[in-house]
Amino acid sequence: MTKLNLTINGRAYGPVDVRDELSMNDFLREYLGMTGTKFGCGAAQCLSCAVIVDDPDGTSYTSPTCVASAVSFDGKTIRTVEGHAKDGELSALQKAFIAHFAFQCGYCTAGFLNEGQVLLERLAKAPVKRAELETTIAEALDGHICRCTGYIKYHEAVRDVILADSKRYLAANQ
Ligand code: FES
Ligand code: FES
Repeated sequence: MTKLNLTINGRAYGPVDVRDELSMNDFLREYLGMTGTKFGCGAAQCLSCAVIVDDPDGTSYTSPTCVASAVSFDGKTIRTVEGHAKDGELSALQKAFIAHFAFQCGYCTAGFLNEGQVLLERLAKAPVKRAELETTIAEALDGHICRCTGYIKYHEAVRDVILADSKRYLAANQ
């Protein structure tokens, strides 16, 4: 057993005793009741289980939770799909996903949402040229598997959010 402390969606959790072999996915779903994080392949292949990890240096990235132990997240700050809406208001990305009917069964949606959010935050710090946008989105979402084949809808939804706030996400005069 190991004592686990971490921050999820801005709230501190722990210390809580967990078995060393407990997966992060089971910790979120079974210990905390955060069932928005899904379990798909269980083999770090589909990324339906990905959460956002916020590093102290200000960078963020997504990380699968199915093959990672809960204790490997000790001391980390993460965000899950439950943290996107603020004060009952869906995020711009969540609204765009709905507007595009980007999801069907929804199993992969949290992973795509987290990845899209990481991309938005990265572009806000380092905007890209308009001509590079399609490739940038495709590369960011690459690796997320949607068994309902909603790839184009997800791509379009992310693109809409970026173009709706192009001064923020795109390099000027490009
Ligand atoms: S369930 Fe974790 S990558 Fe597929
Ligand atoms: S919406 Fe069903 S797996 Fe993506």
